[in-house]
Amino acid sequence: PCRQRLLVVANRLPVSAVRRGEDSWSLEISAGGLVSALLGVKEFEARWIGWAGVNVPDEVGQKALTKALAEKRCIPVFLDEEIVHQYYNGYCNNILWPLFHYLGLPQEDRLATTRSFQSQFAAYKKANQMFADVVNDNYEEGDVVWCHDYHLMFLPKCLKEYNIKMKVGWFLHTPFPSSEIHRTLPSRSELLRSVLAADLVGFHTYDYARHFVSACTRILGLEGTPEGVEDQGRLTRVAAFPIGIDSDRFIRALDASPVQDNIRELAERFKGRKVMLGVDRLDMIKGIPQKILAFEKFLEENPDWRDKVVLLQIAVPTRTDVPEYQKLTSQDRSLDFHALCALYAITDVALVTSLRDGMNLVSYEFVACQDTKKGVLILSEFAGAAQSLGAGAILVNPWNITEVAASIAQALNMPADEREKRHKHNFAHVTSHTAQEWAETFVSELNDTVVEAKLRT
Ligand code: UDP
Ligand code: G6P
Repeated sequence: PCRQRLLVVANRLPVSAVRRGEDSWSLEISAGGLVSALLGVKEFEARWIGWAGVNVPDEVGQKALTKALAEKRCIPVFLDEEIVHQYYNGYCNNILWPLFHYLGLPQEDRLATTRSFQSQFAAYKKANQMFADVVNDNYEEGDVVWCHDYHLMFLPKCLKEYNIKMKVGWFLHTPFPSSEIHRTLPSRSELLRSVLAADLVGFHTYDYARHFVSACTRILGLEGTPEGVEDQGRLTRVAAFPIGIDSDRFIRALDASPVQDNIRELAERFKGRKVMLGVDRLDMIKGIPQKILAFEKFLEENPDWRDKVVLLQIAVPTRTDVPEYQKLTSQDRSLDFHALCALYAITDVALVTSLRDGMNLVSYEFVACQDTKKGVLILSEFAGAAQSLGAGAILVNPWNITEVAASIAQALNMPADEREKRHKHNFAHVTSHTAQEWAETFVSELNDTVVEAKLRT
């Protein structure tokens, strides 16, 4: 049987383009949890629709890039600089991202850059319409269209306006905040209504799904049911689908000889010391200052450990045109996949201190690479991953520096049998809840939802 066609629509394509000449491009894998997870989706005849991360004003360049991307089954949406500024830097990353992570709407200095709230929202809608146009051009009857993340909350509505029969799913990779937070957003209702145009709406955790349903009941006055949200007899199905990783890819990589070489080098470099590791995009939600403070406190309180432990922090620069991100400066750059695997493998304690985080795949990736070492995961209770790795990890409130410092001591001193027991829990989860399965579950639920809706009418 032929595989079902799937159109995956996300702001960021799995590859980003770098221009090498008038009509020549090279493609690099993009960083971030959404891309990592989607790379693990193999069951479908999938095509990707999204932005390649560059401005391509000329037709020659657009044609050449379209061709280069086609080999990767990617279809570009070309956004000009002004749209990127207003939609991506502005509405997505200065308004929705902080709001959904409980940092609130722009205030004081952030407000100055947001005075044009209405024009940013207009650009957001316009950009979503541009994505919809590209989807519509590539759509074939029977396709499943899967829209991703906070960049594309307007997309389900645009798509259904083109074709009411399109099977449309939408998935949020960030938290969905309490309805009291969502209420503060000027465009709160319009965004909820456009998401509700989808047939199926998915979140990483049950809490996020519940928050979304209460936002719809309290703000829109609609009816929440165990299945989802009902509006005049039409149901939008809402459910939790916790994402996973392609764990085999990590486990296999550990045997590759460049990774083995790298592991030996790192082990030599840090001989006689325990290694603690943080891997984050340089984002205010990741709680990096809190992490450093906790490590500092731990060293103050445990002088014996001072030359016996090192904290490695990878901070990948991100969204550097957004003012709030410019305050977080870094000389770091991103690591390639093999270097990252080696780092995960030699780590004794991974430290994830996100203040809020949709899921946090770094914690999963660390676990996948630890079957030899059986290191300890310290994990923020405000990361979605705390719901699934809670039994094996040491859960912490990242705001409580004292508690995090104590957890570092606990992790570094943990006896081998306890480490093994905790690791086993996590490893079993990470290897049995994969990205592949996540995608299959979501798409089959979407197919079922559409069938059930037809039966109801
Ligand atoms: N990552 C990467 N290169 C790096 C550091 C991280 O490709 O130098 C990847 C990492 O492997 C993970 C993703 O970026 O898959 C981060 O995902 P996560 O869910 O932890 O956080 P997000 O960036 O989506 O907020
Ligand atoms: C998070 C978001 C993704 C995004 C990624 C990287 O994981 O949920 O949608 O792609 O961060 O951010 P960027 O702005 O570079 O795409």
